[in-house]
Amino acid sequence: MSAHGTPIPMTARASGPLTGVAEVPGDKSISHRALILGALSIGETRVTGLLEGQDVLDTAAAMRAFGATVTREGLGTWTVQGVGVGGFAEPDHVIDCGNSGTGVRLIMGAMATTPICATFTGDASLNKRPMGRVTDPLALFGTQAVGRDGGRLPMTVVGAANPVPVRYVLPVPSAQVKSAVLLAGLNAPGETVVIEPEATRDHTERMLRGFGAQVSVEDTAEGRVITLTGQPELTGQTVAVPRDPSSAAFPVCAAVIVPGSDITVPGVSRNPTRDGLYVTLLEMGADIQFENVREEGGEPVADLRVRYSPELRGLETPSERAASMIDEFPILSVVAACAKGKTIMRGVKELRVKESDRIDAMARGLEACGVRIEEEDDVFTVYGMDRVPGGAVTESRLDHRIAMSFLVLGLVSEAPISVDDGGPIATSFPSFEPLMAGLGATIARDKP
Ligand code: S3P
Repeated sequence: MSAHGTPIPMTARASGPLTGVAEVPGDKSISHRALILGALSIGETRVTGLLEGQDVLDTAAAMRAFGATVTREGLGTWTVQGVGVGGFAEPDHVIDCGNSGTGVRLIMGAMATTPICATFTGDASLNKRPMGRVTDPLALFGTQAVGRDGGRLPMTVVGAANPVPVRYVLPVPSAQVKSAVLLAGLNAPGETVVIEPEATRDHTERMLRGFGAQVSVEDTAEGRVITLTGQPELTGQTVAVPRDPSSAAFPVCAAVIVPGSDITVPGVSRNPTRDGLYVTLLEMGADIQFENVREEGGEPVADLRVRYSPELRGLETPSERAASMIDEFPILSVVAACAKGKTIMRGVKELRVKESDRIDAMARGLEACGVRIEEEDDVFTVYGMDRVPGGAVTESRLDHRIAMSFLVLGLVSEAPISVDDGGPIATSFPSFEPLMAGLGATIARDKP
């Protein structure tokens, strides 16, 4: 089923060269954070390049429910009049975060140290995902949470009236958990410390500093130690959201595997904590050039020139790299199916608790398309082949990245590849269909 309606079956067919400019939307992680930090600031925050995907729209609606004024001024340009740290009002209705794990987990953190009560829910995918990873550390501040069996949504959270600061070592490499703890730490007195044994995306730390919080980061033997001084006065900022490297991954990987392609993807974030796919593609022999490297909105960005790369080689991706490419394994599996030899992806078990169990979703779909795979809990192996047979209908499982991955594979398979529901693509990449069509890709909705 589509996230918000009837399923939208789609089919991709063998395509001629992809050419032109692919202007992918704004970064999803940064878009959520800009709205939430804007709501926790005093004064106006102005955001340009905001991703207007459903996940982020749900976060915007949630920030209104907590008392902020959130206004769409024009395409991608939004303003937020914040209520300040500790200023969230109690929502008078259930907060529906739709498909978004990032949305719900960050918002739970942002309200956890204010003495208000809020109930959260989501779609069928989000309501299966574990929330204990966030509510466990929030309990250390004094926050209470009651949800369904296994710490699942719907869940009611009661913020701590007298929060105490927390020192927390992340048991899983998760930027959502790190961010929830840091956002909760904003309204606790003293220093809140998060230690991450493996580095995860650092947008929250960067943006907190930009809004005026004191945040220090130290690399130690234990890992990255992030220290936030509580109860700062955050002030509204201007945030220019760079384009999303996780969305760029789809046209980039399509251009790498479709013969004759040559595309440009301008203004993509090259934040090192998000860069694992691009490092891996270069190692596989992909023809990608990073032009005009610069800094925009506090993030390194570049224009990517990507050409068809006929000599792709399979390889092994180390577990230390997994966090920096965690959302890109589905599309990397597609490139791996088109490379020479096998690709072994290590440290991937977090994929099992994403919008779907992404290892299982890719494994079953690739097998249906005639690709050989091997699956362990934490390792996924894909055997490359000269030409992928295709000719299957794959399941997207309410997961945007699974849907887009199989549609990209269909551009090079012998027989077309369908997905049962392309609806979830709108959560992160609402312009996917026109953008891919503009490059020359043959992806279309099935006739009813
Ligand atoms: C995100 C963190 C990652 C990622 C998600 C976005 C974020 O999730 O998969 O798409 O914006 O913090 P985890 O924190 O579960 O690894």
